[in-house]
Amino acid sequence: MSNIEVQDLPETPPAGPVITVDGPSGAGKGTLCQMLAAKLGWALLDSGALYRVTALAAQKQNVALDSDNAVAKIAAQLDVEFKVTPQCDGVEVILGGENVTSNLRTEETGAMASQVAAINSVRDALLERQRAFQQPPGLIADGRDMGTVVFPQAELKIYLTASAEERGQRRYKQLIEAGKSANLARIIEDIKARDDRDMNRTVAPLKPAADAIVIDSTSMSINAVFDQVQQAAQKIGLL
Ligand code: DC
Repeated sequence: MSNIEVQDLPETPPAGPVITVDGPSGAGKGTLCQMLAAKLGWALLDSGALYRVTALAAQKQNVALDSDNAVAKIAAQLDVEFKVTPQCDGVEVILGGENVTSNLRTEETGAMASQVAAINSVRDALLERQRAFQQPPGLIADGRDMGTVVFPQAELKIYLTASAEERGQRRYKQLIEAGKSANLARIIEDIKARDDRDMNRTVAPLKPAADAIVIDSTSMSINAVFDQVQQAAQKIGLL
């Protein structure tokens, strides 16, 4: 018999439930996740931002994106902070003391992120960092492998998709509305190339978890998507 009584053992902190939202770029995951986090008052993990920050850090240190070991080392040692803006209308990303928020969401950074995300050792290096976001009262996890690899025990898994043409149209509209120039055919081509890289890489490829609810938002509004997810959450007592 051990001298250690059960009540003496350190308690594992309660982790809280997780809702995962995976899917290709531009399907509306980010908006859906923000709506869910606000509705439930849960934490939000934007896992794509970690891959984007890793790519930016590599670029800053002049490390080639195909130097697997060097990029994995950067991912393991990331000095990154996600700060809610003083106006509470978004998140600022601070990398090594520098505010990189405006560079984070560009198409160029997205393409670089997709490259580093295909490196096995980079994904390993970011795994625990992502899992550490799980906390009470709950977590909304946005990404490509949230339901398949990072949180396989998640209470609710959503796979949100839409046709490449529709996702291209949405992106085009965003850019035009922001006063930027854009070429629709080129955007759709880039989306297809990114899908191909994310879905066909050997490590943690983008695919729905076997137990995910698949929602095709091609002809749905974001509010209709949100309602469908709310209903699924209600059904299992999360709401
Ligand atoms: O969601 P996003 O566009 O910010 O993601 C940027 C890239 O990072 C995307 O091409 C795929 C990759 N990614 C990934 O492989 N796994 C994740 N969990 C999140 C993003």
